[in-house]
Amino acid sequence: MKLSIEQPRLISEIETIAGFSDAESPAVTRVVFTANDLKARAWLTGRCQEAGLEVRNDAIGNIFARWVGSERSAPAIGTGSHIDAIPNAGKYDGVVGVLGGLEAIRALQRSKFKPRHSIELLVFTSEEPTRFGIGCLGSRLLSGVLSPEAAAILTDKDSETVDAVRRRAGFSGELCNVRLPVDYYKAFVELHIEQGPLLERERIPLGIVTRIAAPASLCIIIEGGGGHAGGVLMPDRRDALCAASEIILAVEKAARDTGAIDTVATVGICEVFPGAVNSIPSRVRLSLDIRDTNLSRRNEVLRAIERAAQNVAGKRSVGIESQPINADAPADCASRVKEALSDACGEHHVPFLSMVSRAYHDSLFMSHVTATGMLFIPCREGFSHRPDEYASPEDIARGALVLAEALAKLAA
Ligand code: GLV
Ligand code: MN
Ligand code: MN
Repeated sequence: MKLSIEQPRLISEIETIAGFSDAESPAVTRVVFTANDLKARAWLTGRCQEAGLEVRNDAIGNIFARWVGSERSAPAIGTGSHIDAIPNAGKYDGVVGVLGGLEAIRALQRSKFKPRHSIELLVFTSEEPTRFGIGCLGSRLLSGVLSPEAAAILTDKDSETVDAVRRRAGFSGELCNVRLPVDYYKAFVELHIEQGPLLERERIPLGIVTRIAAPASLCIIIEGGGGHAGGVLMPDRRDALCAASEIILAVEKAARDTGAIDTVATVGICEVFPGAVNSIPSRVRLSLDIRDTNLSRRNEVLRAIERAAQNVAGKRSVGIESQPINADAPADCASRVKEALSDACGEHHVPFLSMVSRAYHDSLFMSHVTATGMLFIPCREGFSHRPDEYASPEDIARGALVLAEALAKLAA
């Protein structure tokens, strides 16, 4: 089997999909079920159909594009990622795994490889939490980690439910049918940019993921006392933003205090009410993201944040409410998939690094339903979730090539 990647076409497809964006180039903003997301999905569906794949969508809008194998009813080999992008993101997060996965399938077709198991490209709905507050919506539903009832009533900033928004976007089936049947997949493998600096720093072209860190997110709502910025005397204040500031620093401290490089914590959103320069903030809503490869250490950080928040509440006479959003366990990648990837690297004489993923991915949830693995390519300076995110054409093509080889091994 002689595999080759059509690098110019793959890169030009990445550029094309980057054009479906609400932000000015090079930034990409593509939030789930917006007009640009729907345009990107339609364009991508066309490319999959051109490749002879059988395309279907489920009720949450996950896209499945299948190259049917000789044993039609045998479990399939899945690959893919997401095409939604957070505000002011780059071109490569998720997209490399989707278009690289499509090109891997086309490379196998050109090589005249005949898969026994079907090979299926998956495009997961809303890997990013931007619109509905929780990441990996599509894969949580596929794997049964999130119930259809709980998913349906999640809301966006305009208080529109997932159920209403996805139906308007044209995805009308029942959410209870999204969950994958047992043995639907034999294995799943996701190609992705590293989103960290290690591969570039160590000059190693590929990473094989061993473990995906455990993400948690929550909101903390601080209720203080508002009023006139001139009239209310300093000793009388219950400023919700000042209380929030102490909590934000406590979040940073809780993560640093573990002393572990794998513990990270971020406050990425701070909404201040009423948000007027001459009005004391009466309410603040913080959105927190806490991750660790070690579950008990991650949970201890959550408890330390809760203690700090209660301490601030007492000291500053403000009300504090924590609303958990998700607290997921880490996932170990499957030996079978890691072996297929390392054998594929060996056949193409590409060195690789075994590494953890500190970012979360749909693979975290696919690991609940099938043997799952991930392949990382380097990205410049580890930049991601920013417009200057960059992966070189050579690295992208190499990732797609090794992915194709691994898919062939898993599908044979
Ligand atoms: C995925 O986008 C993540 O935040 O890890
Ligand atoms: Mn992302
Ligand atoms: Mn991603």
